[in-house]
Amino acid sequence: MEVKKFERAWTKRDIYKSMLFFFLHFVILTLIVGTVLLYDEFANIVEFMRVNGADYLYTLFCVLLIITIMYFYFLFEDREMISNGKNIALLFTVLNVYFLLAWFIGEKVDLYARPVALVALLIFVLVGRRDAIFMTVISTLFMFIIDAFTGTATAREYYSSLIISFSSGMIAIFFCSKAKTRFAVIGIGIFIVLPIDLIIFLLEISSLVDGTVPTQFSDFQAIFIRMGYGLFGGVMSAVLFLAVLPPFEFAFNCLTVFRLRELTSSDAKILKKLKQEAPGTYNHAMMVAQLAEASAAAIGENVDYARAAALYHDVGKLHNPEHFTENQGDYNLHDELSPELSADIIRSHAKDGYTLIKSHHLPEFFADIALQHHGTMPIRYFYAKALKLTDGELNIEDFSYLGPKPQTKIAAIIMIADASEAAVRAMNARTPEAAERAIRSVIEERMDLEQFAECDITLGDLTKIRYALVDTLTGVYHHRIKYPNLKYKRTEYGTKGENE
Ligand SMILES: [Fe+2]
Ligand SMILES: [Fe+2]
Repeated sequence: MEVKKFERAWTKRDIYKSMLFFFLHFVILTLIVGTVLLYDEFANIVEFMRVNGADYLYTLFCVLLIITIMYFYFLFEDREMISNGKNIALLFTVLNVYFLLAWFIGEKVDLYARPVALVALLIFVLVGRRDAIFMTVISTLFMFIIDAFTGTATAREYYSSLIISFSSGMIAIFFCSKAKTRFAVIGIGIFIVLPIDLIIFLLEISSLVDGTVPTQFSDFQAIFIRMGYGLFGGVMSAVLFLAVLPPFEFAFNCLTVFRLRELTSSDAKILKKLKQEAPGTYNHAMMVAQLAEASAAAIGENVDYARAAALYHDVGKLHNPEHFTENQGDYNLHDELSPELSADIIRSHAKDGYTLIKSHHLPEFFADIALQHHGTMPIRYFYAKALKLTDGELNIEDFSYLGPKPQTKIAAIIMIADASEAAVRAMNARTPEAAERAIRSVIEERMDLEQFAECDITLGDLTKIRYALVDTLTGVYHHRIKYPNLKYKRTEYGTKGENE
């Protein structure tokens, strides 16, 4: 779910650093597990270790083994994920939280009542589908190792618990992408109860059939009670997920699809303000969002991110909305100002947007795009106005945005979509050909001024973006296609068209 950034090559230092973090978290995990499992034995720990020392070492080795495999999985499959300590901490915190909850519920309620899909749901929403599948396997094995160590239930129950935990985690992941809001996840919780209960029923009934077919109501009663626990486990997965997701989002500053949807609804605080105080800018932002969405889809970037960042790209205009053409009536405030002052007011909206987004604790990603969406482009209108008023030398930088240039593909998309929207809106005849010309010149002008020098957008991407923008913009402005003039004639062979 994270935005793809330009991936830099890994140095040995990066590898050692990530290894060290992993090892530290392994130690913390071991301490937590050790404390929980040995809590009652602390009084006679020496005696306990003399009897169970070998088992303890065996368990520790198994945990070390799966954590090592987990490290190599991320090293080869998703290096970005372990490139900083925050993400590694996130993975281990999910494991720790799951262990504590699963252990507590397993002890106090029933083995089958554990929140089996919690890791799957959390990693899916906070990180992504592929890592969620892998972490489901890891957490399932991890709990199995712990269960084998504690050994309070029967071996069959542990195997059942292993199967239930793995399959319900997977099923939760397969259905999770359908959840549009946080509360829709409750639906997934109820849905995963079906396979859990089916598995419990089959496993339990097969363990009953040992030569005698179960006919007694009491035999079935035990099965139904365990199925009830399975139901509890499925629902608890969703309930606990809803409870722990906000602290995770906050502590690790994760931008989940749910938070993204809340931030892009028209009820979001800043967007509401923009709608009331700068309706022109609000409409423009909505339009740019639509264009950014189409462009992101065309080049395989994250559509939700592009849409959301586009909605917030011009919030800096809230500082003095009436200085921007889209919010002006007949009266232009810039007529009374020097071109230098005008340019200064206009260009400050990028920085103001950045500050406003940061001060509202919105995602850093939005703030970066607000700052970068004009790059270091000159404000052509006021530069031209100043040139007319002076005979001397003018420094173009005094009339240019302060940058930085777009740093990601999505920032580049928003830069192009923003300028294209303004260019096409200003056109008299919005034919596809004219729109194509305008968008092409927007892109070429930015390429000439090296605005894409700091992001990894390719010429192929730029071509696809151009097509997507022409399609969307001509569609939006309801361009009527000119049909050739045809006259229809009825003949004995049917209707026939003829050019006029
Ligand atoms: Fe802007
Ligand atoms: Fe804009």
